[in-house]
Amino acid sequence: MSDSCEITGFSKSDIEKYSYLHKYLTNKEKIEFQTPENLEGFIKPLQNTVSANRIHSSETKRRESLLKHLEKSIASKFENSKISTFGSVESGLSLKGGDFDLCLQIQDANQKKVLKRIGGMLKGQGMEKVQIISRAKVPIVKFTDPRSGIHVDISINNTLALHNTKLLASYAKLDSRVKDLAICIKHWALHRNISDSVNGTFSSYAWSILVINHLLEEDVIPNLQSSTDRVLAEIDGKEFDITIDESNALDDSNNKNIAELTLSFFHNYATRDWSNGVVSIRSGKSLSREEKGWMDEEPSALEIYNSDKENPGRMGEHHLAIEDPFDLDHDLSRVVWADGEIRIRNELLRAAEMFGNGSPWKDICETVDPDRLSDMEPVDIFHDLRDKSDDIVRNMLEKTKAEIDSVDRLIDALESERQSTLRMAKAMRGVIEETSDLRKEHKSVVLGLKSRNAEIDEIKKKRDKINSDVILPIHMIEDELSKVYSRLTEELDIHRVPSLNKEKDQFSWFMELQAMHGKAREASELHHRFIELVKEQKEEIKKLKIYETKHDDATSKLLENEPMLKDKNISSKEVNSYDRRVHNIQKALRKRRGEMHKLRREAGRLDAWLRKKSGSQNRGRNSGRGNKKSKPRGKKEDSGPMTLGDISGLLSGMNNETSSKRTRKVSSKKAGMRKMGNLGAHRGSRSQFKKKD
Ligand code: CTP
Ligand code: MG
Repeated sequence: MSDSCEITGFSKSDIEKYSYLHKYLTNKEKIEFQTPENLEGFIKPLQNTVSANRIHSSETKRRESLLKHLEKSIASKFENSKISTFGSVESGLSLKGGDFDLCLQIQDANQKKVLKRIGGMLKGQGMEKVQIISRAKVPIVKFTDPRSGIHVDISINNTLALHNTKLLASYAKLDSRVKDLAICIKHWALHRNISDSVNGTFSSYAWSILVINHLLEEDVIPNLQSSTDRVLAEIDGKEFDITIDESNALDDSNNKNIAELTLSFFHNYATRDWSNGVVSIRSGKSLSREEKGWMDEEPSALEIYNSDKENPGRMGEHHLAIEDPFDLDHDLSRVVWADGEIRIRNELLRAAEMFGNGSPWKDICETVDPDRLSDMEPVDIFHDLRDKSDDIVRNMLEKTKAEIDSVDRLIDALESERQSTLRMAKAMRGVIEETSDLRKEHKSVVLGLKSRNAEIDEIKKKRDKINSDVILPIHMIEDELSKVYSRLTEELDIHRVPSLNKEKDQFSWFMELQAMHGKAREASELHHRFIELVKEQKEEIKKLKIYETKHDDATSKLLENEPMLKDKNISSKEVNSYDRRVHNIQKALRKRRGEMHKLRREAGRLDAWLRKKSGSQNRGRNSGRGNKKSKPRGKKEDSGPMTLGDISGLLSGMNNETSSKRTRKVSSKKAGMRKMGNLGAHRGSRSQFKKKD
């Protein structure tokens, strides 16, 4: 007999893992969720979740300044483009530390190319975790700004998202419970790891839509898409109904509080008959599947989940169907995987049951896989020092200071090496420039020698070739020609008339001698030219020697004024090698300065911790004596995590002891902030470090 459940198909371990869903599916009839005895008791913790997620004005400022920077560097690179914010930051439904959604609007864009270009640009700007996701329905480039720690998603021409953000924002403006419930649900979903569309669960946006839908069903808010005046917009050649009527109101909205609404939210979706309806905030009510045309397709999530785990195959669509309010063909559950669907349903049932039996809200939201959220947690910059004694921390500080000194010396050495190499390259360049006229003339002579040599070779070759063909030297040819000529033209002696054959021979010999003579003359002319060229060549070589002596004289005169260049081989090649050296030293300097930056930060952090400790000890002692003055302004108690913001006050009173003795004094009224910048990821912090003399 198989160990798996006959109804759910779950194995033993899956039954444990998804116990709530298993119990629900196997006892559907008997499950009845309770209402906790002290429902009011949930109000405070839920409100705490809302206020803990309130966006601090410093976070807003950081976002604004990042946006300005991106507008400058990205939007200005693409003609007629514009960056708009959307998503929860714009709708007001944002969790603290949430991402920053930006849309680059640009005409006729090749999305992938634009994203690639932006990705490259961001990497060049030192942005971290730059990632281009081009296969998604909406391709994006993701990155983290290391100075502010803000996570950013940039999409291209994602116009519809601007409209749906406006819809969510309009709902949020309507009733504060929209935001409160959205924050609580998004917080819960995030911590229970079911709000991650990349990993097969609902997007944060889908959870917001479920919240709006629940509040519509609860008559907390009116349907803002139900106006009779319809607004249509064409986006990418497709028409969308983007009607939002903010004047819509309910005759009689209910006054359920946040605890009641959170409980009913969990009940609503935990026990919802997903197989029979489609969530549609556009309609303000659940749509029947037939009406929508989205059937609950096979295979089911359970079938896929229980099948071959290695190679699970594709699940049918529309199981947890949620219609996008404007893109009516878009089911927001399309991104959900089989195990994602099971986890979502199990979590909804878990929350409904725990809420019903009065479990604390923090247990309901207990974080699954805390590492996943480490990016969003406020950074406790003293976390590793909390269990160390003061002596150890003091020791660490001393060590860091010693390292600062040694890196400082290294930087000094590198800097002076850079300067002297630069001077050397400059002096060499000077010598090369000063003697450049001589070298030009020298060069033209050398070039002349080369081409003349080639001509001499050519002429010699031709001359020798003729000489090897013509057997007689020219003067003999001429003698022989005149002899034969006289013989052929002298008065005829009738007693010695030559035979006809002999006369013919004489004629042909004459002709042959004539041809030979032409060639021999050519050879003789070539020979003369050869002699001329050799003479010229000798003259030029003499000139070359003169230039070389002149150049040597000029160089040694210049070197008298530049002893640094003595015994140096001065050439462009050498100058280039000095340039390369300067470049390499600069690279090493940048690296060392980066190290210095980190070490100073670390020294500041250790120093701040020791001050904080001694401050709280003094406070303890002083408060006994009723000394009110010693209490630092706005300082946190020791127990909680310390963020950069928390320690700014602490550091404003700190002197520059830990900084190097050469640290520039900051005299502006922002001095406190600048010092704090030494310790944390802060925009523009780079500029505050010491300037070398
Ligand atoms: N969006 C969309 N369709 C989706 C997912 C998202 O149109 N399937 C758009 C919505 O405008 C949404 C924005 O992208 O507001 C950002 O999505 P997301 O980051 O998932 O939601 P936020 O509301 O920004 O939530 P969070 O605070 O978690 O960032
Ligand atoms: Mg977002």
